[in-house]
Amino acid sequence: MTGARPPIAVTGGAGFIGSHVTTALVEAGHPVLVIDDLSTGRVANLAALGSDVELLEADVADPAVSRALGTFGVSVVCHLAAAIDVRASVADPANDALRNVVGTVAVLQAAVDAGVGKVVFASSGGSIYGSATPPPVAETAPIAPESPYAASKAAVELWFATFRRLHGLRWTALALANVYGPRQDPAGEAGVISLFADRLIAGEPTMIYGDGSQTRDFVHAADVAAAFRAACGPVAEDLRVNIGTGVETSVRRLHTMMAELCGAPDEPGRAPARPGELHRSALDATLAGQLLGWSPAVQLADGLAETVEWIRGSMPGRAAEAPAAQPARGPLRT
Ligand SMILES: NC(=O)c1ccc[n+]([C@@H]2O[C@H](COP(=O)([O-])OP(=O)(O)OC[C@H]3O[C@@H](n4cnc5c(N)ncnc54)[C@H](O)[C@@H]3O)[C@@H](O)[C@H]2O)c1
Repeated sequence: MTGARPPIAVTGGAGFIGSHVTTALVEAGHPVLVIDDLSTGRVANLAALGSDVELLEADVADPAVSRALGTFGVSVVCHLAAAIDVRASVADPANDALRNVVGTVAVLQAAVDAGVGKVVFASSGGSIYGSATPPPVAETAPIAPESPYAASKAAVELWFATFRRLHGLRWTALALANVYGPRQDPAGEAGVISLFADRLIAGEPTMIYGDGSQTRDFVHAADVAAAFRAACGPVAEDLRVNIGTGVETSVRRLHTMMAELCGAPDEPGRAPARPGELHRSALDATLAGQLLGWSPAVQLADGLAETVEWIRGSMPGRAAEAPAAQPARGPLRT
């Protein structure tokens, strides 16, 4: 270990966002313990980081987690490990609660047992507020989950507050908008940007559900990682902070931008709007500016160009790894 700063653990650190968080922490001088069961994460996502990262391949509820936190001398846990498929959460809510509520409570108990001071949590600003409040949505908006996934993300805030009162464990929940960037898996339950890029580059048809006027707030994973790094300090404690750009981009506009970047025709197929999807979504991140000194740095056009390049570069490798067939998936995840 060469890091001069306190060790930090990142659950889900081999995943898309977690690997960006791990990178940002290593760059800031922290040794990082990644805890990941590799259910969707990949060791390759950490390959460039060398000896400042140690991987514990385990479920977050495994008793080995607490021991590893203690041995590693972890001061803060960034908790990103989760089952992220919203539609799967609707199909099997008990499994979602097991992975995302019970799993999180297990992380909190492991943190207490190991003497960790703080947990920084990946919540979902794109889903916990539901559709009742017009965007941009601030943290003061009522919580109104419309899926078990969102309910789990909101529910664990009660557990954070309880562990704070019971054990003094400090916490910050970062409510993320729609995150995109390199390493988001287009073959998984991916965001719309990775899916469009993957299909446009491959010359395959793309699909828009509804009329395409639905909007999302796209925030780059490197910006999200900077927010996690800031939240690891003694700031913004015992509350939720939105992390987004406040900018609404329609899915139809996004398709045009991406078709241009990929050199593909801007001709998406159309399918009926899917029930349960928000029509508009954007977060007010004023509080993140005040408490974390955070604001998004990556412009959407630049981030899209980088993501397209990454997907282009990763295609041969993924083709070799890919299972025989992927189930058909729609392009939106909240
Ligand atoms: N991608 C987004 O737009 C977005 C938006 C809001 C919130 N989030 C949250 O950010 C976090 C990371 O999401 P992502 O998009 O990087 O997904 P991801 O699937 O790439 O990352 C999740 C990681 O957690 C690991 N994992 C899952 N369950 C585990 C368990 N029980 N024990 C140990 N490891 C486990 C997976 O192997 C994977 O590496 C999640 O908590 C997600 O809910 C994501």
